[in-house]
Order: sequence, then structure tokens, then C-alpha cells
Amino acid sequence: MKDHLQDKIFTIISEAADEQKQECYVIGGFVRDIFLKRVSKDIDVVVVGSGIELASRVAEKLGKKAKLTVFKNYGTAQVKLKELEVEFVGARKESYQRDSRNPIVEDGTLEDDQNRRDFTINALAICLNKERFGELVDPFGGMNDLHNFVIRTPQNPDITFSDDPLRMMRGIRFSAQLGFFLETNTFDAIVRNKERIEIISKERIADELNKIILSRKPSVGFILLEKTGLLDLIFPELLALKGVETKDGIGHKDNFYHTLAVLDSLSKHTDNLWLRWAALLHDIAKPTTKRFDNRAGWTFHNHNFVGEKMIPEIFKRMKLPTNEKMKFVQKMVTLHMRPIVLSEAEVTDSAVRRLLFEAGDDIDDLMKLCEADITSKNPDKVKRFRSNFQLVRQKLKEIEDKDRVRNFQPPISGEEIMKTFNLPASAIVGEIKMRIKDAILDGEIPNEYEAAKTFMFEIAKELNLGK
Ligand code: CTP
Repeated sequence: MKDHLQDKIFTIISEAADEQKQECYVIGGFVRDIFLKRVSKDIDVVVVGSGIELASRVAEKLGKKAKLTVFKNYGTAQVKLKELEVEFVGARKESYQRDSRNPIVEDGTLEDDQNRRDFTINALAICLNKERFGELVDPFGGMNDLHNFVIRTPQNPDITFSDDPLRMMRGIRFSAQLGFFLETNTFDAIVRNKERIEIISKERIADELNKIILSRKPSVGFILLEKTGLLDLIFPELLALKGVETKDGIGHKDNFYHTLAVLDSLSKHTDNLWLRWAALLHDIAKPTTKRFDNRAGWTFHNHNFVGEKMIPEIFKRMKLPTNEKMKFVQKMVTLHMRPIVLSEAEVTDSAVRRLLFEAGDDIDDLMKLCEADITSKNPDKVKRFRSNFQLVRQKLKEIEDKDRVRNFQPPISGEEIMKTFNLPASAIVGEIKMRIKDAILDGEIPNEYEAAKTFMFEIAKELNLGK
């Protein structure tokens, strides 16, 4: 264990604690991550005594290079040393009131402190005092749970979750992030306490949701959210995708599991949180656009456009950023079927040019999303799609090299049209501009200024505009 406490900071904390005759331990995520071989820069230190006093002594010993911040109201202090952050807190016993996450705090023993923590794997402590340096203190079987990949609360889970309902999300997030299992009693307690999630701020919930989305296999987290009933409370639109309806013997796929399969599949190719959000939301409007037609069977017309329009409300409610990140998600959702449609029909230059024009620099992300969207169980179909996709990719490259239409702006501006024909800003100017753009995208004229200008005069003639 001592090998993992090589950083000089631990020796300094150890000396400071011995000088003050205070028992102290490194605890929580840092200890857990030693055993999981994960890198962790945040160190939590618990002191059976005063955390603030110990932090002050440590900062003193480190001199100018360290920055001490004291949070008197919370009885905690932080020492920052380059990229290292060490939090100091006195061992405590906590009790909570039903409507608040803010506890009534009393001094306690180390075991009280470990008992009040969220999960056994987060309650492991290592002593830092010289005589016992490196000794692991594990009264709740945290090591056993680490070996068995189990998420379990140290005390009665109803108390742990009722004290701080965010822990329900954390438990599910750790399951997804670490590939662990929620122990049955812990799972059942989430089901019983799920409604308490309402006292948690939207920002904290979004934070946990983002961590689930960023995990290696996000479906693990979403299936747990669904099974515990939390999903209905925090993200009902996603739950609405679940289920299969059958009419005249014709069913449609379960769009919840399809969405998760797309998200998992995409996650193998990107760590971009917002592209992963786009996968989660790509079919979000399927329930509202679903129709049954005797000839066509189940249809979801315009679900991409309706989905795009649903996103701002979802982001606002969840307190996710409503900035360019959201716009990117919207764009991906709107365009998500375009490459597929393209690969089904003949891949014409003009269709590829239009796709490039609309997707711009996001074309590679869009292609990733679309490829992940192919979740058919029919191997022949998948094979056909993939080879068509290769064709689209190849064509995209050819057209990009030849025509440079990614992020292209028509070479003739509205201003130039107005000046040339002495026109005020009007619909006709817009029409000329659009026809020039279309002619370029359809390959009728090259993406060049002179060609566009000649074409502009041709349109003007047709519209009887004198110079
Ligand atoms: N903790 C808790 N209940 C919470 C949050 C934290 O009991 N709602 C305790 C756990 O012992 C946890 C420690 O405080 O290990 C530190 O919390 P934090 O830094 O938020 O989490 P980590 O466990 O370090 O994991 P991560 O950084 O991935 O959130």
C-alpha cells in the first residue's frame, strides 16, 4: 500500500498530523482508485479532530507553492499544490432532514465517518500517521466488494439514499463507469426512494447523466435508470421510446433499446459527449410522430425535424448548456437520416454535395452517428448498408477534393446582387442567391466567382431585370 503513497504530500501530511497528535486517513475515491488502477488527482483526508488545523499546518510546511482555502462554515479546508487538490475534513457523524441535502453535523469517529459515506468501495481508508502509515481500514467489506464488482451501501441503503438522494444516481453511474453490479438491497432501496431525487438540483443530475453517457457502455446506466424508475422522473421523453406496438400483425422495433444500441456502438468510436447526446436523442420524436398506415405499416415521418425542435426544451429543463453544443446536437438529429437515405438510393454527386454543404465540418461526426444507427440483426442488410456507406464516404472525399463545398458560402453575396441590379433588400435578391447556390450544389456550374457571376446575369435576364 505504501507504494501508492509515494507522493511527497503524504509524508508531509503524516508529519503534520503526528506533530498535532491527530489521527488522519486518506479516504474515498482516491483509495478506491488505487485498487482500480485509475488515476485520481483529488485526495480526501479525514482527521479524527480538526481538518482545518491539519490543513493549515500542511500548508505552512509546503510554504509559498501551496494555496490554502478554509471553509469555516463546513469545517473543511483545501490545500492546492500544482494540479493536486487535497481536501481536509474532521471525521463526522451526520443526520439529515427529509427536505434537504444539508446535514446536521456532529464530530464522530473514523468508523462513523466511513459509515456515512455512499458506498463501501468509497469508504476505504488508509492511515497516514507514521506508526500505522499505509494501514488499510475497511470495516464494511469494501475490498470484498471491489473484488466482486459490487456497489453496496455501508449502512441500511434506505438511510444512505434518503440522506442524500444524489447517491442513487452516483450508484448507477459507478455501475456504468466501472462495470460493477448494484447489490440487490441497494437496487431495491433506489426503487423505494426514487421520488426523493426531486430535492436534487438539475445541475447535479445532469452531471451524473453526462458521466453515464461518457462511460464505456452507457446502456448499462440507462437500463438501471429505467429499471429503478428514476428514468421516468428525470428523462420521461427517453422512457417514452420504450415498448413495441403491434397492429395487423406488424410491429415496430423498440426504440429505447435501439437508441441504447446506437449509443453503445457510437461510444466505441468517439468520446465526444455531445455526439453521444445526439445518439441518445436521434429518435426522441418517434413516439409523437408514430402512425400506422395500412400500406406502409408503422411510420415516423419527420421525426428528425420534430426531434430537433424538442431538444431546446429538454436541454433547458435539464440545465444542460443551450449554446452551440446544443445546436450541434440539434444539427446531428436533423441530419441523422441523410447519409442512410443517400446510401439506399443512387449516390449522386449532387446529393453528396448537398450533404457536405449542410453538415460542413461536422460531416465526420454525422457519418459516425449514422453508421452507429445501423443496428439491424439481419447480416445481409448490415453488409449492404456498410458497403453503401463506404461508397458515400468515398464520394464525399472525391467531391470535397474537387468542389470544396464543405462550409461553402455562395461566391456572390446578396449585397453584390443588390448593387449590380440596383435592387433593395427583397425576396428577389434571396431567390437569385438561392438559385446560384443550388446551381453549384447540383453541379450545373463550378464553385467559382466568374461562373457564378455569368449565371447571375442569366437569371436576371430570365427575370427581366435590367442592369
Ligand atoms: N461521497 C458521499 N456521498 C456523495 C458524494 C461523495 O458519500 N453524494 C463521499 C464518498 O466517500 C466519495 C467521497 O465523498 O468517495 C468523495 O466524493 P467525490 O469526489 O464527489 O467522488 P469520488 O468518489 O472521488 O468519485 P468521482 O470523482 O468520480 O465523483
